[in-house]
Amino acid sequence: DTLTVMKVCCIGAGYVGGPTCAVMALKCPDIQVTVVDRSSERIAQWNSEKLPIYEPGLDDVVKKCRNVNLFFSTDIETAIKEADLIFISVNTPTKNFGNGKGRAADLKYVESAARMIAEIAQSNKIVVEKSTVPVRAAESIMHILHANQRPGIRYDILSNPEFLAEGTAIEDLVHADRVLIGGEETPEGHKAVEKLSWIYEHWIPKKNILTTNTWSSELSKLAANAFLAQRISSINSLSAVCEATGADVSEVARAVGLDSRIGAKFLQASVGFGGSCFQKDILNLVYICEGLNLPEVAAYWQQVIDMNEYQKSRFSQKIIESLFNTVSDKRISIFGFAFKKNTGDTRETPAITVCKTLLEEGAKLDIYDPKVEPEQIIDDLTHPCVTESPENVKKAVQIHSDPYSAVRGTHAIVLCTEWDEFVTLDYKRIYQSMMKPAYIFDGRKILDHENLQQIGFHVQTIGKRYQRNGLMPSWGTVPQL
Ligand code: UDX
Ligand code: UDX
Ligand code: ADP
Repeated sequence: DTLTVMKVCCIGAGYVGGPTCAVMALKCPDIQVTVVDRSSERIAQWNSEKLPIYEPGLDDVVKKCRNVNLFFSTDIETAIKEADLIFISVNTPTKNFGNGKGRAADLKYVESAARMIAEIAQSNKIVVEKSTVPVRAAESIMHILHANQRPGIRYDILSNPEFLAEGTAIEDLVHADRVLIGGEETPEGHKAVEKLSWIYEHWIPKKNILTTNTWSSELSKLAANAFLAQRISSINSLSAVCEATGADVSEVARAVGLDSRIGAKFLQASVGFGGSCFQKDILNLVYICEGLNLPEVAAYWQQVIDMNEYQKSRFSQKIIESLFNTVSDKRISIFGFAFKKNTGDTRETPAITVCKTLLEEGAKLDIYDPKVEPEQIIDDLTHPCVTESPENVKKAVQIHSDPYSAVRGTHAIVLCTEWDEFVTLDYKRIYQSMMKPAYIFDGRKILDHENLQQIGFHVQTIGKRYQRNGLMPSWGTVPQL
């Protein structure tokens, strides 16, 4: 039995499965990679000119490999049958019903993928869990596979969590800090780990391929996301202190980050973190801790989420307060709806919280985002709906394909996503077309605030207080601590 893997199948053609397999195909010309999904629409998009997800560099990679050694297909059965190694890369949303509602990961898609494999497989398979799943999920997959095993067929289950971030997925995959592979501590387990490692060794230096036991691997994925989110909540908590005292959170972040033990990354104060992973994974960690009867640990991580909710609502309230405590029937422009720049993804985006709060207060929204599809924005703002009916939300929201059209006659601009293009807009022109006084709320701290104030804007941002006239408050007005 050689170390060579010839055919790889990936179940789930989403944000993780798609880019991961594209890069794998690019770096491993000797491997045939087939990505399958039960959504024929998704697969058709992957086979078309307009891919279902936007990711810098992805189009080029897919164009190079598609129908050479990278295939997108709905024929799940054939792909499973032929593959030596199968990635499970389906979604694992937070459960929205029943036991663990709002916290536990819903493993139904993972389970259904495992059952499909058990039903179809006619030869040995290495099954690799790539979706972020609760610790011990590999065990559940193993149970399902073994309970439905045909005689003579062997399954090895590995955990191989993906650490890519959206917007930089290709770069993250090509130059991964590390690849993590968890497996069983048996000779067969080691063999399976080696096979998967062989695939990554096509482009990742061997010293960056970490092998652990399965549980460590699963927990490390949750831990990494929890740590990253915790840094954002920590700096965001200090942003509130800064606004109350006259300190500047950017200066604080810089001073703190220069300590090599702490490091400078992920200390950018913001309107709050979003994305499909941070909240979901921490909720999942909290749920697991409660199940393990570790309430102090659960409470510790829960606070990271609570601080994020606080930050989103604090920012929204600041907008309303600044606009004389009423936004009813006022036009407000939203710059950016994605949860971060360079992605069209809106899952858990803080823009949803900001927009819903403003809509509840009766505002009319003009929304512009360079990549998010208009239908997606409407869907996000109506499911679940704010106090108003979906029809009223649709009446109150206008989506624009150009930032200048989004600001005509508006009272305020609320910047929710740090798209580069927002930095270089013609703000003089924008100021002229707005109602006065004209406000800008910079939820990402990317604009040139001094310049905006000179133009005439009232500027508010995260973690730094400006006076109405643009000057810092005099020390006399700052509460003495
Ligand atoms: C600390 C800061 O490091 C220093 O920058 C500041 O000026 C004063 O406070 P100190 O208290 O002298 O310095 O020691 P430090 O090395 O930070 O350790 C503090 C405690 O944390 C110790 O009890 C240490 O054993 C513990 N620690 C540190 C851990 O338990 N785990 C670690 O990974 C690091
Ligand atoms: C994250 C992890 O980074 C990645 O390793 C994991 O595999 C999946 O989850 P992602 O959610 O795609 O990736 O994006 P990330 O860049 O981590 O940003 C998450 C959120 O935090 C965004 O809303 C971003 O704007 C926000 N953020 C990030 C901050 O507010 N401040 C920061 O300093 C960094
Ligand atoms: P992620 O961000 O984790 O990649 P996505 O939601 O983007 O999640 O993608 C997951 C994909 O998995 C979806 O396209 C979904 O249709 C697919 N999927 C879920 N369950 C199955 C299944 N049992 N068989 C095939 N595809 C599945």
